[in-house]
Amino acid sequence: MQSDAVEAALNKQINEELYSAYLYLAMSARAERLGLPGFGHWFKSQYHEELGHADRFYSYILERDGDVSLDAIARPEIGDNGETALGLFETSLAHEQYISDSIFNLKDLARKESDHATDVFLEWFVREQIEEEASVRTVVDQLKLVQGQPNGLFMIDRELAARPAANVITSGLGVARD
Ligand code: FEO
Repeated sequence: MQSDAVEAALNKQINEELYSAYLYLAMSARAERLGLPGFGHWFKSQYHEELGHADRFYSYILERDGDVSLDAIARPEIGDNGETALGLFETSLAHEQYISDSIFNLKDLARKESDHATDVFLEWFVREQIEEEASVRTVVDQLKLVQGQPNGLFMIDRELAARPAANVITSGLGVARD
């Protein structure tokens, strides 16, 4: 049984992950409109991955005999960053850094509440955030290198098109596993 504070924070994280999915779906649409289908595919795959993250929190709350409480999902904000591929990936990096902070805060809370199960459950997300930030940062760096060179941009677009589709369904045990 988890404390009310931990349960509320886990429910809030479901909302953060669903917002992440919504944001990546909006970015996918922007990339398609920019004529960059590989970027569109990459963001769409990330959209599916974020749904999987939300699902892990959802399943975990239920496994711990808790109540899932779903809130409204905010409108995704991209603004002027939706005008370029670099702007889109810079938005992604800033967002992933924000999500990493929210996972770390959640972990701090679990420890403060002596909630060992949630502390262990969150390990998977800590590792996932390291990977997500690193892969997004690599693309940001590459986009900076090819600025003003359309050929470079099209090469990155082809590379991103090769990303395998994310596994959408992760239901079942929410405990950390790959
Ligand atoms: Fe679920 Fe991209 O963090």
